Amino acid sequence: MNKTGIIGAMELEVEELKSKMTVSGITKKAGMEFYEGTLSGAQVVIVRSGIGKVNASLCVQILADIFEVTHIINTGVAGSLNAALDIGDILISRDAIHHDMDVTIFGYQPGEVPQLGVREFTADIRLTELAKSSCEKVNPGVHAIFGRVVSGDQFISDKEIKERLIRDFQGDCAEMEGASIAHGAYLNKIPFVIIRAISDKADDSAQMDYPAFEKAAARHSARLVEDMVQYI
Ligand code: ADE
Repeated sequence: MNKTGIIGAMELEVEELKSKMTVSGITKKAGMEFYEGTLSGAQVVIVRSGIGKVNASLCVQILADIFEVTHIINTGVAGSLNAALDIGDILISRDAIHHDMDVTIFGYQPGEVPQLGVREFTADIRLTELAKSSCEKVNPGVHAIFGRVVSGDQFISDKEIKERLIRDFQGDCAEMEGASIAHGAYLNKIPFVIIRAISDKADDSAQMDYPAFEKAAARHSARLVEDMVQYI
């Protein structure tokens, strides 16, 4: 029996999904509340992990160990690094990289996790295809592309840093959890996908755009997740 863990870093990224699920139990662990039950008829565990890579990693391990989830979806918002991705558009992960992992001094590639042999954590192809078809169904008119998520414990709001993330990582969007979720899913052999709606352009306008658009963007991503879980 499949059971999908759905992670959002912030309450606004999961509140709509929680309001639509049928809850059979709530478990508190590591400061997080894990809502177990069904969503669109599928077994799910929905959780707000908190912001940043440490919170996200802990959350994945709890989903793996305590809830034994078979799949993981990360839903939320991100800053765009790709001129083809405007505010409100959706990025579905092909892969994810830690942009703040740097052991290049010893010959590793930027973002490569030393001694793991992995730089890009690859998303599950079936989950990415499901996400795309659910997006076309429930968000008609919303532009969605496949691409690369780059993550770090940093809100990106500077043109020069943005350009470095594009140059060094060929990132399509920047956020603060995806690569940790991907990394944790990889270590636990759990298929995953990251779905992020664009709330800002990760440049000097991000500080203004983010608060204005985060809610609407988060809703685009959550609506897609609500539909796709039933096909997993
Ligand atoms: N989440 C949404 N926008 C972001 C940005 N610009 N940087 C990091 N995380 C984000």
